[in-house]
Amino acid sequence: MEFDIKVRRVLDKYHQRISEEEVFWNSLPMEEMMEREDEWLLAVGKDTGNFINSLAKSANSKTLLELGTSYGYSTIFLAEAARANGGQVITLELHADKVNYAKEKIREAGLEDFVDFHLGDALDFLNNSKLTFDFVLVDIWKRFYVPSFDLFYPKLKKGAWVVADNMLYPPEFKPEATAYRNRVKETHSFDSILLPIGSGIETSYLRE
Ligand SMILES: C[S@@+](CC[C@H](N)C(=O)[O-])C[C@H]1O[C@@H](n2cnc3c(N)ncnc32)[C@H](O)[C@@H]1O
Repeated sequence: MEFDIKVRRVLDKYHQRISEEEVFWNSLPMEEMMEREDEWLLAVGKDTGNFINSLAKSANSKTLLELGTSYGYSTIFLAEAARANGGQVITLELHADKVNYAKEKIREAGLEDFVDFHLGDALDFLNNSKLTFDFVLVDIWKRFYVPSFDLFYPKLKKGAWVVADNMLYPPEFKPEATAYRNRVKETHSFDSILLPIGSGIETSYLRE
C-alpha cells in the first residue's frame, strides 16, 4: 500500500509495538494474556489493515463505523481511506486511556480531521445514533458481535460492507464467530464470505 510518510511512520511504530507484544503472546499462558487483555493492542494486523483500507477506498465509503478502537491501529487504515473518500470514521471504545493513545497517533498521522472518537459502550451508541453507515469494522469483544449487528444492520446503507474480525483465530472465539456468521446469513440480505486474511474476516456486502 502507498501511504504518505506521516502515516507510514505511525504504522511503523505500531508494528514495532506489535512485535514486542508477540514476545508476550509466545511466552505467557493464554489465561494470563486474557486477564491482561487491556494492555495489548489486539490489532487486526497488517494484512487486514491493508484489506479494509483498499475495500473502503474502492467502495468509496463515506461513513465508516469502527466497533473497537483499542489503541487505534485499525483506525489509521480506516481514517486514511476516509480522507481519500472525503468521508469520516466514527470509532467506539470503552477505555479512555486507549482512546487518548489512539487520538495522539491519529494526530501524528495527520488524520485527525477524519475521525470522531466516542468513549463508551458501542451498544449504547448504536441504540441512540441516527447515523447511517456504508462501512463497518466489527472488532469489539466477541460476545457483542451479534447484539451489535442487530443494532447497526438497520442503519446500513444499501451497498454497505461489513468486515468482522477473529472468525478463525483465536479458536476460543469459535462459538461467537459462528453465531455472528449465522446471524448475517439469516438475514438473506448479504453476499458474505469468510476470508483467511489475518485472524479470519467475514466480509459481507449488503445487496442493493
Ligand atoms: C480487539 S480490540 C480492537 C482492536 C482494533 N480494532 C485494532 O485493530 O487496533 C477490541 C476493543 O474493543 C473494545 N470493546 C469491547 N467491547 C466494547 C463495547 N461494548 N463498546 C466499545 N468498545 C468495546 C475493547 O476495550 C478493546 O479495546
